[in-house]
Amino acid sequence: MTEPHAMPDDETSATAEAVAAVEAPPSFTPARVGVIGAGYVGLVTGVCMAALGHQVTLRDIDARKVAALNDGQVPIYEPGLDDLMAEHAQRLTYTLSLERLLDRSDIVFIAVDTPPSYSGDADLSRVMGFVEELANLGPEARQILVMKSTVPVGTGRRVRQMLEARGLHGVGYVSNPEFLKEGDAIADFMNPDRVVIGASDPEHADRVAGLYEPLQAKILRTSVPTAEMVKYASNAFLATKISFINEIANVCEEVGADVAVVADGMGMDSRIGRAFLKAGIGFGGSCFPKDVTALKQLAGNSGYHFQLLTSVIEVNELQKRRVIGKLKKHLGDLRGARIALLGLAFKPGTDDMREAASLVLAGRLIAEGAQVVGWDPVVKSLDGVSGVQIAATAEQALQGADAAVVVTEWPEVSALEWTRLSGAMNRAVVIDGRNALDPELMAVAGYTYEGIGRLPGLGIGGEQDQG
Ligand code: UGA
Repeated sequence: MTEPHAMPDDETSATAEAVAAVEAPPSFTPARVGVIGAGYVGLVTGVCMAALGHQVTLRDIDARKVAALNDGQVPIYEPGLDDLMAEHAQRLTYTLSLERLLDRSDIVFIAVDTPPSYSGDADLSRVMGFVEELANLGPEARQILVMKSTVPVGTGRRVRQMLEARGLHGVGYVSNPEFLKEGDAIADFMNPDRVVIGASDPEHADRVAGLYEPLQAKILRTSVPTAEMVKYASNAFLATKISFINEIANVCEEVGADVAVVADGMGMDSRIGRAFLKAGIGFGGSCFPKDVTALKQLAGNSGYHFQLLTSVIEVNELQKRRVIGKLKKHLGDLRGARIALLGLAFKPGTDDMREAASLVLAGRLIAEGAQVVGWDPVVKSLDGVSGVQIAATAEQALQGADAAVVVTEWPEVSALEWTRLSGAMNRAVVIDGRNALDPELMAVAGYTYEGIGRLPGLGIGGEQDQG
C-alpha cells in the first residue's frame, strides 16, 4: 500500500457531508463493538461504527499494523478515513489480543480476508481460524458474531456447526454483508441503500440492527443464507451490467454508434438505471472478479452451470486485451514502441492494484516487445510485472511516447493540458480505456484518439449535429 495522498476538496466535502447528515435518535444506545481484522473492510467498519457513537475495539494479528494504528497512522488509502479516525480516536482501541477484544465487546464483526483459492472457491481458512481461536478461549463466550467478509452461501451454517461442536452454544451468528465501494466507503457506510441482516435468532438481528439506528437506513431482515446470497448476487449483477455495456460498446464500434449516449438512453429507463453502464477496459479490484468467480464456482459445486457468469468473466478478460489490437491498428508492430499507461490503480480514488487492468496490459505489451512507462497519482510501483518504468509525472510518461493508454480515469488525467502535450509525444496516439477524455477536443488537439465504443468525432455534439 502506498502512503495516503492529499484528497481533492470535493471528495473531502462529500464524505464530511455524509457523516454530518447522521444524527442519532434519542432512543439510541451505544454498543461495545469488536472488529476482527483491521484490513480495508474492518477499518472502515470500525471507524464508522465509532463515528456512530459505539465503543470499538479492532484486533489484527499484524503487530506492525496495530502499532501504526495506535500511532494514529492509517495503513490504507481511503478518502476521509484518517480524519474520521482522528476525530473518534477516544472510542477506538487497537489490539493484538483476542482476549482483550472479547473483554471489551458484545458484538463482534468478522472482517478477515476470504481470497480466492486455486479452485476459484473462497478460502475461508482465516474465518475458520478465528472460530478455532475463539473456541480455545473457552465456552463462556456470549458475543454475537457478525459476518462482514464476503463468504459463500452456506458459510453461516458451517460456522454455526463449528460453534456447536466446540461447545460455544452462547455465541450468536448474524450475516451482515458490506456494500462499500473503495474510494467512497465512508459515504456508502453513512448513507447505505440498504442494510441486510441475516439471522436465525430475531433478538440477535435486533441488536445488530440497533447498531445502525443513527443511519435510519432501510433494513432488510432475512435468513443467513439469503443475506449471503444478496451480497454475491448484487456484485455479480453489477459485473454483468459492466460486461454487457462493454459488449454493446464493441458493437457500437462496428456500427458507428456512441456507447456513452446509448448508455444515457438506456439509463433513462428507470427499470435499467444509468449506474454501472460506463464502458471501458473491464472491471477489476478485490471484489467483482473474486465474487463472480466464487458465485460461478458455488453454483457449479451445487450442480448448476451458471452460463451467464462464465461469459461475464470471459468478456471482461477479452476487454482488457482489445486495447492491444487498437494500439496495433495505429502503430503497427509494437516491438520497440514506447507506450505510456496513465493510471495504474484498478479505479480512481484508491491505491488498490488487485486485478487492475494495468497489470494485464503491461504484461501483454512487454510480451509484444514494447517499452512500458506507467504513471499514477497514488500507485508508485507495478509489482508483479517486471520491466515497467514508473514516471514521476504524467508529462514524463508521455515524453517521447508512441501512444498513451488511459487505464484509470483519475481526474488528474482528464485535467492534463492535452493540447500542449501532443508535441511532447513521438506519435500523438491516445487509446482512452475509460472514455475519460472528450473525443472532439482530442481530435482538435491533433491526436489520433480512440475510446471504447466511441468513434472519433462522434461525441454527444456530433450525434446532435447528425440528427
Ligand atoms: C464493489 C461494489 O461496487 C461494492 O458495492 C461492494 O461492496 C464491493 O465491490 C465489495 O464487494 O467489497 P469496488 O470493487 O470498490 O466495489 O469498486 P466499484 O466502484 O464497484 O468498481 C469495480 C470495477 O468496475 C472497477 O474496475 C471499475 O472501473 C469498474 N466499473 C465500474 C466499470 O468498468 N464500469 C462501471 O460503470 C462501473
